[in-house]
Amino acid sequence: MIVSLSINGEMKILEINPDDFLADTLRKNGYTSVKTGCDEATCGSCTVWIDEKPVLSCSVPTAQAEGKKITTIEGVQTEAEVLAKFLVAEGVVQCGYCIPGLIMTVLAMKRELSHSTEQEIAHYLTGNLCRCSGYMGQMRAIIKYLEM
Ligand code: FES
Ligand code: FES
Repeated sequence: MIVSLSINGEMKILEINPDDFLADTLRKNGYTSVKTGCDEATCGSCTVWIDEKPVLSCSVPTAQAEGKKITTIEGVQTEAEVLAKFLVAEGVVQCGYCIPGLIMTVLAMKRELSHSTEQEIAHYLTGNLCRCSGYMGQMRAIIKYLEM
């Protein structure tokens, strides 16, 4: 089947299988920042935005995204680089596998909440797991980033 998706501001017409999931469709089409870890909606590494809202792309059938606006980290590169500098400074980036999904979640949170408390940040990031660095450094980096 054919779907049309707006990906990072570019309209794409893609041929997919009816049972394909968005994470795989994106990766197959070159958006390799989208990482798949668990493939069952529990790790957050595949987070992208649909119509500006963060979603776990491993659990969204591509067909359901027909006509929607998809954003991957490639689409918010400048902002992502700024946040990444704060994460690096706190030693958060080790294997780096979780980082694109984490960044997409934090940037969505920044748009959605203002003056977030530490508790609100922790709650928003519940779905983004990191097996390497723990979460204290992430929290410090995110707070500094939001205060910038
Ligand atoms: S790969 Fe999607 S949540 Fe883990
Ligand atoms: S830095 Fe390795 S999983 Fe987060």
